[in-house]
Amino acid sequence: MDTTQPFTVAIDGPAAAGKGTIARAVAEAFGFAHLDTGLLYRAVGAQMLAGQNPVEAARALSPEAFEDASLRTAEVAQAASKVAVIADVRAALLDFQRAFARRAGGAVLDGRDIGTVICPQAEVKLFVTASPDVRAQRRFDELTARGHAPMFEDVLADVKARDARDSDRATAPLKPADDAHVLDTSKLSVEDAVASAIAHVKATRAV
Ligand code: C5P
Repeated sequence: MDTTQPFTVAIDGPAAAGKGTIARAVAEAFGFAHLDTGLLYRAVGAQMLAGQNPVEAARALSPEAFEDASLRTAEVAQAASKVAVIADVRAALLDFQRAFARRAGGAVLDGRDIGTVICPQAEVKLFVTASPDVRAQRRFDELTARGHAPMFEDVLADVKARDARDSDRATAPLKPADDAHVLDTSKLSVEDAVASAIAHVKATRAV
């Protein structure tokens, strides 16, 4: 195996399905670079909330802008899914993601359209999913652990609203690539979901 060659692991799926955890663990296990592409849309969403034009914000985005901890809020997540329907915003973020995907030494990208649009030639495509109730419960637990006091119904409504916006948009809608391996984490522990993803990457790498 030539470790200087590009090797892309594309991980797509809806909010709170476990993509981020799986992507970080796969990157760590194989020594690949990791990009959480949701942060790009969150950074643009945050700039829209601050009054900027989203297309201009996307064109001017620099990597430092998406390392900001304040991008993790529910308000920014909703704003991200609103700017993500704008075709010019997506186009402005394309080259950066494509270059990252094909960098030497391997890359893991998690998002909504990595296997379908950003890197259709990815060596491994995973579609990580879970039922809306399970995903809302995970988000609820996360928020509670961080000291917030959300209502479960509100968290579930948020998850469903984002699912609908991400799946129904015309440009790069959320859907599994035809050749994606679907991993439903509804009934899996974090450890089992990670182990299953790593086993899948290993099997593909060995071929
Ligand atoms: O993954 P995360 O929840 O951080 O993504 C925030 C929003 O950004 C998503 O709801 C989606 O609308 C958008 N997004 C996207 N394409 C990606 C990653 C995220 O449209 N590749």
